[in-house]
Order: sequence, then C-alpha cells, then structure tokens
Amino acid sequence: MLKMMQNDKSKIWSLEDVLDGCKWNDQAVAVGAGLGLSNLGFVETFESVETLVKLSSEGVNALENGLLEARLWDWISNSDNPDMATLQQSFERHEAGPGVGLLKRIGVTLEGGKFSTDNPAKVSEIISKRSEFLSSLPAKVESLETEMFEHFKGRRGFIESQDTTTRTWKITVQGSSVTSDSLIEKEMVSEITPELLQSDNWRDAEFRAFDVTLESSTPRTGRSHPMQALIERIRNIFLEMGFSELVEDYVQTAGWNMDALFIPQDHPAREMQDTFYLDNPSKMELSDDTMDLWSKIHIDGGDTGSLGWGGNFSKDISQKGLLRTHTTVNTIQYLAENPSKPCRMFTVDRVFRKEAIDRTHLPEFHQIEGIIMEEGANLQMLVTTLKTFYEKMGYPEVRVRPAYFPYTEPSLEIEVKWRGKWLELGGAGIFRPEVTEPLGINHPVLAWGMGLERLAMLVLGLDDIRQLYISDLEWLRNQPII
Ligand code: PHE
Repeated sequence: MLKMMQNDKSKIWSLEDVLDGCKWNDQAVAVGAGLGLSNLGFVETFESVETLVKLSSEGVNALENGLLEARLWDWISNSDNPDMATLQQSFERHEAGPGVGLLKRIGVTLEGGKFSTDNPAKVSEIISKRSEFLSSLPAKVESLETEMFEHFKGRRGFIESQDTTTRTWKITVQGSSVTSDSLIEKEMVSEITPELLQSDNWRDAEFRAFDVTLESSTPRTGRSHPMQALIERIRNIFLEMGFSELVEDYVQTAGWNMDALFIPQDHPAREMQDTFYLDNPSKMELSDDTMDLWSKIHIDGGDTGSLGWGGNFSKDISQKGLLRTHTTVNTIQYLAENPSKPCRMFTVDRVFRKEAIDRTHLPEFHQIEGIIMEEGANLQMLVTTLKTFYEKMGYPEVRVRPAYFPYTEPSLEIEVKWRGKWLELGGAGIFRPEVTEPLGINHPVLAWGMGLERLAMLVLGLDDIRQLYISDLEWLRNQPII
C-alpha cells in the first residue's frame, strides 16, 4: 500500500482506490493496512461521518397508511358532528387514544366529547408538513428541518439514523521518504488454521498483530425470536425434569374449558366481554354422558361429598365453541383420557382473553401449564417443582401465597422476586374432587398455569409487553441470546 502511495504523493486515497490499486477485495485488509501505516506515521488518515436519516417500521407504516393524526383529522374534517363516541367506533382503541392526544397537541380541542379547533388550516398544514417530512426520507441529517426531525425523534419507531464513515489516506513526508528498497512484500498470517499448525510453516511465519481495541461490526445472522427461544428453554427444562409435552388445539368447548373445571356456569369470567366465543363453530357436540357428569357435579356435587353450585346446568352453554382462555382445558382432557396412568405433563401454548391492550395485557398470550398426577403427590411437591423450574430459569427466589380458583384446593399464587419486588407469575393448586372424581382419577393432581409473557418481561427486562410482538428489528437484533 505504501509503495503504491509513493507513486502519487499528493493524492488522497479512498478505500476504493486502495482496494483497486492493491488488488485486495477485503475492506478490512485495506483499513488494517492503513491503520498499520498510520501507526508508523507513514500515512495520515482522514475520517468523515455522514448521518443518513431513514424511516423505521412505524414511519414506513405511516407513509403507506397515513399518519395516525392525518387519518383522524381526515375523519374529523369529513364528519358533520365529530365527537369522541363516534370516533371510537371508527378507530381501534389503541389508535383513538394516542391519535386524539396528537391532535390536541396541535390545536384541536375536545370539550364535552366534541372536537373543535380555532384554526383548521393550521392543523392541516402541520399534518401535511409531517407527511412531507416522512416522504422526504431517506435524507442527510443536515438537510432536515430541525423542528420536524426533533418531532419524529420523539415518536417511537418512526425514524432512525445511520452513520456511514468514509476514510481516506494520504502519504506523509515520513512515508514518502521510506526508500522503496526497504519495502519488502511479506505475507503475514492473520488466521491460525489447523493446516498451518499441522504443517511446519508456522515456524517461519510472521503473524499480523491485531488491535483488539478497534471497533468492529457485529455480524448479523439469523436467530430465533426471543419468545421462541424462551419457549425452547422452558421446554428443555420441563423435559429435563421428566415431563412430557402436550400440544393441543386452541378451539375448545366451554364444557372442557370451564364446566369440567367446576367453574360455575354463571361465573363472570365466562361472560362475552372476557371470553372469545366463536361464531364458527358456535356449537361443538359433546357426549351426553360427559355433560351429565358435569351437570350432576355442578347442581349438587354428585357423589363427591360437595354441595355443588346449585341452580341449573345448561348443556347448550357446555357446547359453545370458544378460544381457550387457559391451557388447563388441555391438561384436564388429557386426564379424562388417561385417568389412571400417573403422569407429568406440560404445555407452553397460546390462550385468548378479551383484554384491552396495554403495557401489561394482550388478548393473545401464552401459558406455561403443567400437571403431576401420582400417588402421594402433595402440596410440598408442587411448590418444590415450581421453585425448581424458576430456579433453573434464573430466579431462585420464589414464594407462594394463598389464592382461589374454582378447580383447585388448596390454591396458590406463585411469585418471583425481581429487582427487589415480588411479581405474580401464575396460579397453581391441587385439583378438587369435583374435577377429578367424575373422570375416575384416584391420585392427587398437582396443576399450575403461569404467564409466559410475564416471564419474558423479566428475562428481557421489559416494561411494556407489546414490545415482544411488534417486530422491531433493531430491538430484536439487540436481544441477548436466551
Ligand atoms: N388456569 C389458571 C389461570 O389461567 C391457572 C391455574 C392452572 C391455576 C392450574 C390452578 C391450577 O390463571
């Protein structure tokens, strides 16, 4: 490289020039050689950094579908009598709230549920300036209007900056005065290979020194989504503890999801606002024998010694189709099919509840469910199993507190200590006779159901559950290997 530079002492060499001139095809080699020469004082290195501002996922989305405030403003401008109640019918809740917030900040007021503004032209102008800004990207940071740039920097996921470093080199007086006879071409070994070690060549080889303090780029390779990686890890832990995995469908009947678990038919969690019932299939046939068993237990406790819930039992309710609200629906069916064979089963799978989306809730999430059925199984064993699981996950401090579920007695809440606070991660207990006896189960059944996303938030240090599913590539790339 120096020899080549001596041929043109006033030239400023770009990376391409060097690669070309030296017939190298690896940038790192050229940068490394340049660095070596500059350390010797033979060349001077110039670096310039250019910052390009690009759209991120939310920005691309806004460009395709319109900015949230633009869509809301459009809707308001085209409505005769725009008010919050009708707006909420046209927009999802996660859009309406933040969207109105955005509009309020640019002069739209909401009073008595009605929208108004002193200066509609101004609102339109601000909004169209924002849209124009987004469509002007990618652009160099210097060319951007500061106010807009700052605005979008403050909105998560809209824009991102990318720095590009350009390096050039120039030979110094000292470099020019090195006599070309003293410049010998020598091959330096930069990688120690098995072949090199097996042959005798290493004895005379000269090794290239590495500067380990230099910044290097991290290779981007494909990898599992952190949630998938976490599920794998949980699977491995349960398999290692002697459990077998159960994988079942999430379309289920209310009967298995609730009646079999002695959840009364008028339990509030069964209401439409909590559970996703299906239109198709709205009814799933169950055998009368099974439903008769449940019916007896619910009405008067059958032969279990329980008093039941009293009242009536509806087979129509049992046969309603729904999206399972917990994975306990699957373990109970497994037990019904295998009532006398001792077992340890687990499942990590998706469940559904009508929850409004917020920082800690999603309508679709996962549970880590498990059962142990065997002679002599007891509460201590349940607690130890859960403690062992969390300890293997890296959370050695676990405690349990009394809780209530209609299908277990005793019932527990499981809590894990994280950053000095106790966090509730799930429920557990021993199935009640009202649940096990009609199925012909003679051994105690220990059962638990814990939140996977909650655990993921601890593992990944998140304070917003939504981050797990928004496919933010930058964030995904930076997640630790689980
Ligand atoms: N099914 C309960 C829930 O969804 C958890 C649980 C499972 C509780 C098994 C006790 C026994 O919260």
